Amino acid sequence: MTRSSPRSRAAAFWLAAVVCAGGTVAAMLLYGNIAARKAEATSTVLRIADITERTTDPAEWGKNFPRQYDGYIRTGDNEKARFKWSEGRPPEHEEEGKAESKLVSDPHLKTIFNGYAFAIDYRERRGHAFMLHDQRETERVKQRPQPGACLNCHASNVVAYREAGLAHGAPGSLTDPLESENGQKQLFAGWEHVNPMPYAEATKLVSHPVTCLDCHDPKSMKLRITRPAFMEGIAALAASNDPVPHLPSIEKWRKGDRRAAYNANELASRQEMRSLSCAQCHVEYYFKGKEKRLTFPWHKGLKAEAMEAYYDEVGWNDWKHADSGADVIKAQHPEFELWSQGVHARSGVSCADCHMPYKREGAMKFTDHQVQTPMAHVNLSCQTCHNYTESEIKERVDIIQSRTKSQLDRAEQAVVDLIRAIQEAKAAGATDEQLKQARALQRKAQWRADFINAENSMGFHAPAETLKILGESIDYARQGTTEVAKLGVHKK
Ligand code: HEC
Ligand code: HEC
Ligand code: HEC
Ligand code: HEC
Ligand code: HEC
Repeated sequence: MTRSSPRSRAAAFWLAAVVCAGGTVAAMLLYGNIAARKAEATSTVLRIADITERTTDPAEWGKNFPRQYDGYIRTGDNEKARFKWSEGRPPEHEEEGKAESKLVSDPHLKTIFNGYAFAIDYRERRGHAFMLHDQRETERVKQRPQPGACLNCHASNVVAYREAGLAHGAPGSLTDPLESENGQKQLFAGWEHVNPMPYAEATKLVSHPVTCLDCHDPKSMKLRITRPAFMEGIAALAASNDPVPHLPSIEKWRKGDRRAAYNANELASRQEMRSLSCAQCHVEYYFKGKEKRLTFPWHKGLKAEAMEAYYDEVGWNDWKHADSGADVIKAQHPEFELWSQGVHARSGVSCADCHMPYKREGAMKFTDHQVQTPMAHVNLSCQTCHNYTESEIKERVDIIQSRTKSQLDRAEQAVVDLIRAIQEAKAAGATDEQLKQARALQRKAQWRADFINAENSMGFHAPAETLKILGESIDYARQGTTEVAKLGVHKK
């Protein structure tokens, strides 16, 4: 396989604008389509709308950056990924205006999550355009009380947090740059205030899904980190000794005096930011304490077992399983964590390289803001590095995902078998003490199967790590079933 360094693939925004202008000259000479090309080249640098730290509405930004805005809007019309909206599902399960239910396509899940909100409503993900709507409409929010902390990853909330911070004593004003001391104080104070609010109240503070302002500095257009939970999570990861060769700025920080916490906005390279901006949301999380502080469990590292060890240490359980009585944890979309274990991360290939590839329109080269499955444009996302035909690339992805799916099905079956075994032993009179070991094994097996189910690439982001995790899941579940059998309790 050959590969061009992703770092060399394009320069910063201003540089891109200059390059585009240069490209325009060539285009004029080549095609003679002078007027049209000139208009294209100038449109990115001409600032029509005055965008500031207060401009949440993406349409305003779109006046200056129409191509990026157009892609952003089209996330409402994404192509379907390979393993979702379950092929072959009967059409009677389709519900108007809703994403496909995972509980219908994967019947194990109702058993695995019994007693938890995910057994009520759990759907496939879809494009960024839907994130706020889908959160407001899920039965998990309607039937169970949820905190304002849910908003962290489902809305443009930078301005809402800062306003709440200012209302609760933070210094300065909204005109302060976000990265300034006052800006950060406003952000954190507001975030801490909104997290424990009831969801229904908190969601009134926001009106857009993630927008331009959440990923870009309005003055320089540079990528930036805007989420407090990520700032704390990545600082904890940096302070751990988990090897992160794919994040060189952390490795470098570790060699320094470590007086100031690791800060991605100051230290991360542009190529790192093309992944870290996604890692603000596409990650495992939990809400800590009654403050409902959104926390990423990276204190011991990014691997499934490292996060599990953290949860064990702090005694975190998401819920008590309704059938087996085990204290269990639910995994949520650990894309960043799994990607971190794969060969692409190791080779410096970022989330944006595959999910937001460069696109050409006439003389313009720009970032495709229709964030979606890379399989919608294998030529732009993969063939820049891989020298095979499109069908060959698709087949390789298919092999990885089919292998993952078949092992995942086995792991979930094994977890369900263990739940049933514990449930039956309990009904036949087994004591909590007798079931302790089997329940602990359910926790381990369920966490691993769920880690891969909740991760959204069906193993692609790190195929070898995925099969390791699923192998462990099956082993723990079967060990648990053996433990129950050894008790020798049976229904009379
Ligand atoms: C080398 C390319 C590559 C990189 C790098 C990569 N992904 Fe993916 N990603 C894929 C492929 C391929 C799939 C599977 C798509 C499918 O099944 O249609 C996928 C699937 C996904 C999905 C589900 C897609 C959908 O349409 O539902 C999400 C979400 C995702 N990736 C997020 C991320 C994040 C976040 C990162 C960085 C931490 C990342 N990816 C890095 C290639 C990549
Ligand atoms: C503010 C949080 C947030 C950020 C930042 C974010 N995402 Fe997402 N992403 C989401 C949510 C929430 C969804 C699911 C929306 C839904 O299902 O309604 C999603 C969905 C997706 C999907 C699935 C699209 C589909 O058609 O199914 C992909 C792919 C994806 N994101 C990739 C990325 C990449 C790559 C980045 C970084 C450039 C990124 N996301 C940044 C929150 C975020
Ligand atoms: C750390 C970021 C983050 C937080 C916090 C978060 N989400 Fe999400 N959520 C995502 C991402 C990323 C996706 C898309 C990937 C997926 O569906 O697995 C998503 C998908 C969803 C979806 C669509 C798929 C589904 O699960 O049915 C719903 C609904 C949802 N979240 C509701 C919530 C609720 C309710 C809360 C609070 C309890 C919450 N989210 C908190 C990041 C987050
Ligand atoms: C989820 C994060 C995210 C959101 C939301 C987002 N962008 Fe971007 N944007 C990116 C990434 C990643 C790049 C590539 C940056 C790089 O390579 O340095 C980018 C690049 C750009 C660039 C530089 C030129 C180019 O095309 O590469 C512009 C201009 C831009 N975005 C405008 C916008 C506008 C306008 C919006 C809102 C309509 C928006 N972005 C929303 C992540 C985002
Ligand atoms: C920026 C360059 C780059 C891009 C873009 C890229 N890859 Fe890769 N890919 C690599 C490198 C480097 C390796 C490591 C193997 C090697 O060194 O030859 C690799 C390995 C792989 C492997 C081997 C399996 C594994 O993970 O161990 C597959 C399959 C693959 N890529 C598929 C894809 C697909 C599909 C896409 C598009 C969605 C893609 N790649 C995009 C550079 C890239």
